[in-house]
Amino acid sequence: MTSAPTTRRRVLVLFGGRSAEHPVSCVTAVGVLNALDRNAYEAIPVGITRNGTWSAVRETPDTWTVSRLIGQTAIPEAEAASGSPLGAELPEVQEPEHPVALHRASTGIQLVDTVTHEVLSEVDVVFPLLHGPFGEDGTVQGLFETLGIPYVGAGVLASAVGMDKHYMKLAFQAAGLTVGDWVTITNRDWYQRRDQKLDEIRNLAFPVFVKPARGGSSLGITRVTDPALLEDAIEEARRFDPKVVVEAGILGREIECAVLDGHETDDPRASYPGEIEVLDETSGHQFYDFAAKYQDDAAAELSCPARIPEDAIDEVRRLAVRGFQAVDASGLSRVDFFYTPDGQWVINEINTMPGFTPISMYPAMWDRTGLSYPELIHELIELGVERGTGLR
Ligand SMILES: Nc1ncnc2c1ncn2[C@@H]1O[C@H](COP(=O)(O)OP(=O)(O)O)[C@@H](O)[C@H]1O
Ligand SMILES: [Mg+2]
Repeated sequence: MTSAPTTRRRVLVLFGGRSAEHPVSCVTAVGVLNALDRNAYEAIPVGITRNGTWSAVRETPDTWTVSRLIGQTAIPEAEAASGSPLGAELPEVQEPEHPVALHRASTGIQLVDTVTHEVLSEVDVVFPLLHGPFGEDGTVQGLFETLGIPYVGAGVLASAVGMDKHYMKLAFQAAGLTVGDWVTITNRDWYQRRDQKLDEIRNLAFPVFVKPARGGSSLGITRVTDPALLEDAIEEARRFDPKVVVEAGILGREIECAVLDGHETDDPRASYPGEIEVLDETSGHQFYDFAAKYQDDAAAELSCPARIPEDAIDEVRRLAVRGFQAVDASGLSRVDFFYTPDGQWVINEINTMPGFTPISMYPAMWDRTGLSYPELIHELIELGVERGTGLR
């Protein structure tokens, strides 16, 4: 005989946030809330507005849609359910009339009244479905460490290193992984040594990719073929981040692996690799840009397992686990590579909170490897609870 569990875990599902990837996070939250096993978990959805105010969502509908979650109708429900999760209008968490939980005051983060206690003291685990700075970069993770509340995914150090394309590469190199050539331009460099930095960049193999150092979803990235257009591209990246990374273009297939932590002291597990093919002739996208990722269904073809030789599959799965461990990740990460025509693996990046809608690559690769979306969510929450907080 089975009986309903007497206590369900209380999972605070955190979404939205202050970064440019706010709308992607809103769509992810809908996917997770709909897949969460309600016999095992009670969901407490909390949205963070673009200004950093935290806002609890009080209703608990059977089926979440973007409009029901964030209290507006920016995305028609049919469109949200279709293949392209982000339409022309992007969803956004609305400023609440009565902020709850935590909110950002001019003095920093401030605990607000008894609701804070009610919401936070009874939470078993937080699922931070946040992308980009102030969500995926260790800052919010540090808050939960300080409060002693377990959370899903990478800790403070791994989140910070994984967010920063400069330090990420240093960690990968130290672990013996191959990274492409790059030049980092800090804000100080841009004002003190601009010409020297531009000279260094002109020595890289063109085209180059100019990126915000701590960005995501391809926002602020420009592929530059003509050195005369470099400064404009750097200014564009600087709209997102005062620190910019310029990379030599790598010629290769884009292949990625989903890594899921092991339990206790078990090693992390890697999924079958997936491939992203940007269909540039038909779609006009020269790389995997924001529109190709979220808005244009026809722009890219995703396949899993990637159609590469068996031994290459084994190798990239091993390298993905190595990338995961190089930044000391936990919980989950998607590790992205270029597979060059001569069979070399060049690591592009790690995403410690990868896109996580039901059609995103990370869950899709696990699905192909034998773990369904609801099972994956269960696994991630249990890993977060198991890991706890503090030094470990
Ligand atoms: N060095 C590079 N060589 C070739 N293509 C690149 C390079 N860097 C980025 N790209 C292209 O740009 C996309 C986004 O770059 P990425 O570094 O993954 O940024 P994000 O963190 O925003 O996803 C990649 O998926 C790839 O299509
Ligand atoms: Mg990427």
